[in-house]
Amino acid sequence: MSYLEIKDLEISFPTPKGKYIAVRDINLSIKKGEIISIIGHSGCGKSTIMNAIGGMLTPTGGSVVLDNKNVKGPGPDRGIVFQNYSLLPWLTVENNIFQAVDSVMDCSTAEKHEIVIKNLKMVNLYQHKDKLPGQLSGGMKQRVAIARAFAINPGVLLMDEPFGALDALTKGSMQLEVLKLWNLNNREKTIVMITHDIEEALFLSDRIVVLHNGPASTIREIVHVNLPRPRNKIEIVKTPEYIELRDHLLHLLTDHFSIEDMGVAYKS
Ligand SMILES: Nc1ncnc2c1ncn2[C@@H]1O[C@H](COP(=O)(O)OP(=O)(O)OP(=O)(O)O)[C@@H](O)[C@H]1O
Ligand SMILES: [Mg+2]
Repeated sequence: MSYLEIKDLEISFPTPKGKYIAVRDINLSIKKGEIISIIGHSGCGKSTIMNAIGGMLTPTGGSVVLDNKNVKGPGPDRGIVFQNYSLLPWLTVENNIFQAVDSVMDCSTAEKHEIVIKNLKMVNLYQHKDKLPGQLSGGMKQRVAIARAFAINPGVLLMDEPFGALDALTKGSMQLEVLKLWNLNNREKTIVMITHDIEEALFLSDRIVVLHNGPASTIREIVHVNLPRPRNKIEIVKTPEYIELRDHLLHLLTDHFSIEDMGVAYKS
């Protein structure tokens, strides 16, 4: 039995027009310490799967089992970076992180503050610690959400497009922070992240789960990324293995369009 087992998962939503099946037949066995990316077009069900792992959505079919226990709701064993950041608007940057640390960590208040400060510095927001979320840019909010998830140091880190709002340089350094955190935990932290960025998925992941388009989306393919670690971002992109994987992923994500289709769409 793997550490995180998603078995025959189906999630449907009641809508005024009847039941809408977002995802179905999702089967995925994740080992402890694996880094998994989920990739697919907008609306294909990535966040839905992530929310089921996080325990915010109850499966309408199948199950999510973490460490041999059925996931029945959120828990401190899973830290989540939500797509919409989900910060508490009435708390400062510092207190948003402190509140999360305080609710799950069993240590002294001084140690909790130390953890908060370390993570604020990691995302370069220490000088903004007294601002409210409403006073931050999108990328800053996203970095608070990342710092909050890292600070509670969960066994499973779930990240829904965690770097989507960041500029390329910040994104690159945050990717390195993820790997640093993973290495610091002896590569035992399990990470599931959603991304739209093929290069990011290839740089970070052990496997990439490519989804079909919805409705009733299923897994199209699970791509194994057998690139040796540590991966040097500048060097790996030149290797034939990387190029082959990147081309394959591009093909999986774009093959329902063709140049002619785009030409017709453009003319009409
Ligand atoms: N609460 C809900 N009620 C009805 N339909 C929903 C609900 N939540 C999600 N859906 C539908 O389920 C499908 C999958 O949504 P989801 O948010 O998982 O997509 P996604 O892959 O994360 O997309 P994006 O890349 O845009 O974030 C969409 O068609 C969406 O409209
Ligand atoms: Mg989403």
